[in-house]
Amino acid sequence: MSQATRFDAIVIGAGAAGLMCAMSAGRRGRSVLLIDHAEKAGKKILISGGGRCNFTNLHTAPDRFVSANRHFAISALKRYTQHDFIALVRRHGIAYHEKKLGQLFCDDSARDIVGMLLRECDEAGVRLALETPVTRIARDGLFRVETSRGPFESESLVIATGGLSIPKMGATGFGYRIAEQFGLKVLPTRAGLVPFTFAEADPRNFKDLAGVSCEASVRCGGTAFDEAILFTHRGISGPAILQISSYWRDGDTVEIDMLPGLDAAEHLKRLAAERPKAEVKTVLSEVLPRRLAHRVTPAGLDGRPAGQVREREWSGLAEDLRHWRITPAGTEGYRTAEVTLGGVDTSELSSKTLEARRVPGLFFIGEVVDVTGWLGGYNFQWAWSSGYCAGQFA
Ligand code: FDA
Repeated sequence: MSQATRFDAIVIGAGAAGLMCAMSAGRRGRSVLLIDHAEKAGKKILISGGGRCNFTNLHTAPDRFVSANRHFAISALKRYTQHDFIALVRRHGIAYHEKKLGQLFCDDSARDIVGMLLRECDEAGVRLALETPVTRIARDGLFRVETSRGPFESESLVIATGGLSIPKMGATGFGYRIAEQFGLKVLPTRAGLVPFTFAEADPRNFKDLAGVSCEASVRCGGTAFDEAILFTHRGISGPAILQISSYWRDGDTVEIDMLPGLDAAEHLKRLAAERPKAEVKTVLSEVLPRRLAHRVTPAGLDGRPAGQVREREWSGLAEDLRHWRITPAGTEGYRTAEVTLGGVDTSELSSKTLEARRVPGLFFIGEVVDVTGWLGGYNFQWAWSSGYCAGQFA
């Protein structure tokens, strides 16, 4: 067996969580090797937020995360908060702004965030090995990591290899396999923050509405989001749909209120009274995009002047628009999903250190863990918080 180079800690995955963990451990004086099979660090950071990286959310709180254990994230989110990350961003002189709903974006480019993390790693003495596939991991006292650049050994091993979303960018199931290799439970994974699709043959598909968007309240089970929806050639997307997709299971019905915040029946009756000669679809076009208004006008009311529509017909129409039910055929899957739900079972990990309870020295952080944030900077905040906490102990 060839002689391995030894480090205090090896971090596999130079994404958001891995970079944060490596710099935090390095700052503690630990010798750290950060390995990635990709040619660049932080590739998902670079494409995030349309190239401007929505790096955190001012309103980060544990209830904005989906996990089989909804208490698990509390500790890490408390010990490294959105304000800690914002302070780091400010120290590096990176200009940022709030876009909406507490979502913070770089003014200039996501490259600023990756540059900041790489500089921090460099100052903390982290050794970065890119284009370095890991071929095997074993443990005999120390962890032994076999790579294309030879073997390395360490006391601590941190798995930060992310989830399955966007395989084109190098996402792999590596982290789940390592968890299983060490006997840890992995919960089933599925795509999250992802558009819904409808069957090609479904007469209720929305191809004719592709490109139309409107504000809506979207509900599935007991959870609802008020934001925009967007019809696509394959189905339906937009922030409210992406959000609810993380709560949706195969076969579930999703309910959409297309007139949120309005007393819909009264509002439609008032509009009809103002324009009694206008057709129903024209009246509806005042509250919905025109193409959508035409599509949702019931056949029985199509062509009728608004003034001839009975009160109870307006009430019925308002009710339909407020409780519009769709049953997606599926989602666009990992190809376009922003995140992966499920993953390493949190019951296997310490919520304080992110270390595997049954395998001292082995840590899991970021998206590979069964903690998934809402859309809006929450997933990066989980990567920063979990990465920082593991970095204090690895
Ligand atoms: P991440 O995926 O960032 O990093 C994993 C690293 O491990 C990668 O560098 C990969 O190359 C490496 N790796 C994988 N397998 C390996 C192996 N076998 N060997 C070696 N290395 C391996 N979130 C947010 O909060 N705000 C936002 O604006 C966005 N925007 C966004 C846009 C798009 C298009 C996507 C797909 C996702 C987002 N996200 C987001 C989600 C966010 O990108 C995601 O939650 C974090 O990047 C997760 O960080 P991790 O470090 O856990 O994984």
